[in-house]
Amino acid sequence: MTILETIRRGTDYLAERGVESPRLQVELLLAHVLKLPRLKLYLQFDRVLTVAEIDILRDLVRRRGQREPLQHLTGSVSFLGHEIRVSKDVLVPRPETEALAQLAQSRLKAILRDRPPGSGPVRCLDFGTGSGCLIIALAAACPEAEFHALDRSPAALDVARGNAAAQPQPTAIHFHLGDGFSALVPGLQFDLIVSNPPYIPTAEVETLDPEVKDHDPRMALDGGADGLDFYRRLAAESAAWLPPSGWMLVELGDGQAADATRLFAERQWQIESVEKDLSDGERVLIVRRPGSGTASI
Ligand SMILES: C[S@@+](CC[C@H](N)C(=O)[O-])C[C@H]1O[C@@H](n2cnc3c(N)ncnc32)[C@H](O)[C@@H]1O
Repeated sequence: MTILETIRRGTDYLAERGVESPRLQVELLLAHVLKLPRLKLYLQFDRVLTVAEIDILRDLVRRRGQREPLQHLTGSVSFLGHEIRVSKDVLVPRPETEALAQLAQSRLKAILRDRPPGSGPVRCLDFGTGSGCLIIALAAACPEAEFHALDRSPAALDVARGNAAAQPQPTAIHFHLGDGFSALVPGLQFDLIVSNPPYIPTAEVETLDPEVKDHDPRMALDGGADGLDFYRRLAAESAAWLPPSGWMLVELGDGQAADATRLFAERQWQIESVEKDLSDGERVLIVRRPGSGTASI
C-alpha cells in the first residue's frame, strides 16, 4: 500500500469514529512512524510502505479511533519549541497555555531587568506544573532566575522532572510535591507565580471529548462545582508567597475572566490586565500582590 492510499484509508476510518481533522491525524501518525516531517509525506505519495510500517500505523490509527489523544500516541508535544513528553499522568499542554508562557517570559525578563543591583535571586513558581511545560519554557528564556514548581501528583512530577532533564540546555528546577502551597518550605518568596490551574466545572468534565475526559488526569481538569475553586484559593493564599511588588499570571477557562477577576479584586489584588490568546479568548489574568498599588481596571 502506498502512502497516499494509507492516508485515505486511515482518514475514512477515523472520520467514521468521529475524530476531528481525521486526515491531519493520520498524516501526523504516519509522519511519526516514518520519522519524517509531515509535509515530506506529500513528496512521497507513491512510496510503498513496508509490512512493518503498516502494522505499526494500523495499531496507532486503531487506538486513535478509540479516541486516545494523538499526543499520547506520538509521546510528546512541542510547547513553544520545547519537546515535552506526555503520558496519562499529565495534562497534554494546550496551545492556549503558550500565551500564558509568553506573557510570563516577558514579565520575568522585566523583573530581572528592573531588579536593584546586588539584590538576591529572582524566584519564579509554577503552581500545578503537570508536564512542566510552563516552568521549562520560563527557565529556557531566563536561566539566571531560580525556578520552583509544585504539583499534588507524584507521577506528574516524575514526568516534569524527566522533561526538565531532557531539555538540550537544562536549567535547575526545584520540584515540590504537595497540596498547593503546603508543598513549599514556609518563608520562601517568589517574584512571579504562574499557574494554569484545573478550571473545568465538575459536572462539565463528563461532557468533554473522550480524548480529554478519559485520558487527561481528573486532578488536572476539575476546578470544583463552578470551576473557580483554584482562583479562590490562589486569591486567598498566594499573597503570603509574594513580596509587595510580586506578580501572578493565571490561565483562565472560557468565560471565566469576569468571575476570576472579581475573586482577586475582592481580596484587594491589583488587577493589571486580562490578556487574550491567539483565538481571541480571554485567557490570562495578570495581577499584583494586594497592597502593591491602586487597581488599574
Ligand atoms: C490544568 S493542569 C496544568 C498542567 C501544566 N501546568 C500545563 O499548563 O499544561 C493543573 C495541574 O495542577 C495539579 N493540581 C491539581 N490540584 C492540585 C493541588 N491541590 N495542589 C497542587 N497541584 C494541583 C494537577 O495535578 C495538574 O498537574
